[in-house]
Amino acid sequence: GRLALWGGRFTSGPSAELALLSKSTQFDWRLADDDIAGSRAHARALGRAGLLSGGELEDMESALDELQRQVDDGSFQPQESDEDEATALERGLLAIAGDELGGKLRAGRSRNDQIAALIRMWLRRHSRVVASLLLDLVSALIQQAQAAGDAVMPGRTHMQHAQPVLLAHQLMAHAWPLLRDVQRLVDWDKRADASPYGSGALAGNTLGLDPEAVAKELGFSKVSDNSIDGTAARDIVAEFAFVAAMAGVDISRLSEEIIIWNTQEFAFVRLDDAYSTGSSIMPQKKNPDIAELARGKAGRLIGDLTGLLATLKGLPTAYARDLQEDKEAVFDQVDTLEVLLPAFSGMVATMSFDHERLAAEAPTGFALATDIAEWLVKQGVPFRHAHELSGACVKLAEGRDQELWDLRDDDFADIFKDFLPAEQAADVRAVLSAQGSADSRNGQGGTAPERVREQIAAAQEQLREL
Ligand code: ARG
Repeated sequence: GRLALWGGRFTSGPSAELALLSKSTQFDWRLADDDIAGSRAHARALGRAGLLSGGELEDMESALDELQRQVDDGSFQPQESDEDEATALERGLLAIAGDELGGKLRAGRSRNDQIAALIRMWLRRHSRVVASLLLDLVSALIQQAQAAGDAVMPGRTHMQHAQPVLLAHQLMAHAWPLLRDVQRLVDWDKRADASPYGSGALAGNTLGLDPEAVAKELGFSKVSDNSIDGTAARDIVAEFAFVAAMAGVDISRLSEEIIIWNTQEFAFVRLDDAYSTGSSIMPQKKNPDIAELARGKAGRLIGDLTGLLATLKGLPTAYARDLQEDKEAVFDQVDTLEVLLPAFSGMVATMSFDHERLAAEAPTGFALATDIAEWLVKQGVPFRHAHELSGACVKLAEGRDQELWDLRDDDFADIFKDFLPAEQAADVRAVLSAQGSADSRNGQGGTAPERVREQIAAAQEQLREL
């Protein structure tokens, strides 16, 4: 019963109130498989140290096999009286192997090193799932960028028309941070790849066990260098939580863009029916719920990270029970991302852009003013003056409620008269198209079509390297 793990010096079991507070099986049961894998590796370490005979080890392994079967088919479940997944599994093992043999498994390990190892094992496995879902999203963005070809759109800063850009360029601006999130997960794994098993409660173990071998069996390439750090550090968990929150933020930025592009006023993008929702009262409505949920869930992913950091701040170093609070934060993040990403990627893969509308809007709002200034610079006008002359063009056009290309040749001749001969002034029209503007931004990383094709190839290359 309740005294199974630590009853010796106690005269009573825990109060019902304590048991309720202490209990974590409702969320940590998902570590059961990793716990059993850890127990198997630990049993073999006990065997190699001579603490289990050959026969005992064999019986222990088949008992663990049986326990795994019972966990798999659901016939073994945590009970009300089990404090955590480790307590429950110990009860299960004792029931199968008997008190004498089953009771030998706990030698040389503590729930402190166990739980620190289990959360890493679980997170490392799920980080691969999350990474691959993020890569699906990156691929969907790359495909959309390729499908966009040389289509231009209004590029914005401060939400105001700034300079025309390629739609592909804008889409890739969302692919890159998501690709970096995946690279962050890959890099994170190097630090998560150290087994706390063998750290014991905090000071290490005396039983001559071989933590290296246990680490290898559990997929770790090394053992924690410091047993106190091994049991107490949760920066590994927090770093994962940061990457998950960052991915949430990156997805949320894209969501906001899609929501705006999808409004009637913008009408840049249409979402596929299968990835939009209707209204229960307004028959005409087609809502971008996936993008809104993604934007909302970013808040929750950030909350998980900040909650965890707040838990860790100020903890004395070695295990304290506060550390039990690390798990729900990252479980929630993983659950959130594993449900969100497939829907989100589906929405991105199936959305369709109105290229004509994008092209029509791209040069408007005086978005070609920089092109006029830079054209003047190429004619030898110092930029300070060029900026001013281009501004004068904007002022004139705005006053007439016109766009820049509506200005007459003599308007340009007049504005540029201190710097250029009249017959040269009208040549500025050559840069007064969105496509021409985009073509001219051909420095590395720029929005010129050949540069955008290069960056797509570079992203695909990084994708292949992962
Ligand atoms: N369930 C605990 C956790 O998740 C591990 C148990 C350690 N408990 C203890 N009293 N040392 O962190």
